[in-house]
Amino acid sequence: MPQNYLDQWTPEQFEVLEEAILVAKHKIHSTGLFSDEALADLIDRHPSDYLTIAAMGRDANKFEWMVGERGDLTAMELLDAVRNGQLWLNVIAITKFHDEYRKLIDDVYNELEASNPRFKAQNRSGNILISSPHAMVYYHIDLPVNMLWHLRGEKRVWVYPPFDPRFVAPKNIERLIVGEMAEDMPYHTWFEDYALSFDVKPGQLITWPQNTPHRVSNLEGLNVSLSTEHRNPRAQRRLNVHRANRLLRQKFGCECRSISPDGFTARCKEVIARGSNLTTRLIGKKTEEPFSYRKRFLVDPSAEKGWRLLDGEQPETFEEENAVLMGV
Ligand SMILES: [Fe+2]
Repeated sequence: MPQNYLDQWTPEQFEVLEEAILVAKHKIHSTGLFSDEALADLIDRHPSDYLTIAAMGRDANKFEWMVGERGDLTAMELLDAVRNGQLWLNVIAITKFHDEYRKLIDDVYNELEASNPRFKAQNRSGNILISSPHAMVYYHIDLPVNMLWHLRGEKRVWVYPPFDPRFVAPKNIERLIVGEMAEDMPYHTWFEDYALSFDVKPGQLITWPQNTPHRVSNLEGLNVSLSTEHRNPRAQRRLNVHRANRLLRQKFGCECRSISPDGFTARCKEVIARGSNLTTRLIGKKTEEPFSYRKRFLVDPSAEKGWRLLDGEQPETFEEENAVLMGV
């Protein structure tokens, strides 16, 4: 018998899924699957290639994101380093490797689908985000539709207008899709005039339309969230429209401004993008890999921020990461 995880949702809350910013209540934090012990056990069973460890500064205006290595720390030592430092862990694709978490995510999505016939969650996936009491995640977008189920600690989330080229250049979404850049997007302080901010506590979900730009600053305590991701035909088409726009511009010099996933043109663009993908596979050309930053630090619980630079790394310059971000 699947459990219910959604807490007192109104019909309007179900209705706006994927269409607007939604903050709603859930009960996932009381499953026992996200205690220190459960997380340490999960991390010890999780393949190392699917664990991202990042460090960052404390100023949202300065992009100082770095990716690092765990070294030989136990999972509990790693969690302690996160609790005491300035670090962010992403335990990626838990649905692939852990039955109990896959079941949880399936139950949650089934519950959403049952109450909104227009809501379809295919290609379901989940990541667990574990971050320091004052960690930040810089301005970025996620490619699939994503939902942040907050579980421990408190964080402030800023959300910016979606589908607006002034906030995220469509060319950068294209670069992200083809693996030329990571999710981080160029940020300007004037964006704040158009941001909505939410203080998110355990037991709250925050979600928004696909590709909506957002950034996060933790406010207190070790923060743990479940980030679920899904796609559906419309979400997939939205990405294919970006692919086709890039292709049409690069191969035929045709500048397509529309990024809408709806209507006849979007469906034509989807055929173009799918055809191009199929050709790439048939001629045996390498398919795109998601971009990842070069690893530059080692987690070190004895260091003030919980990490130290790897041998040979230059002291904290972020030229390489900023060059990727700015596309230079
Ligand atoms: Fe995100």
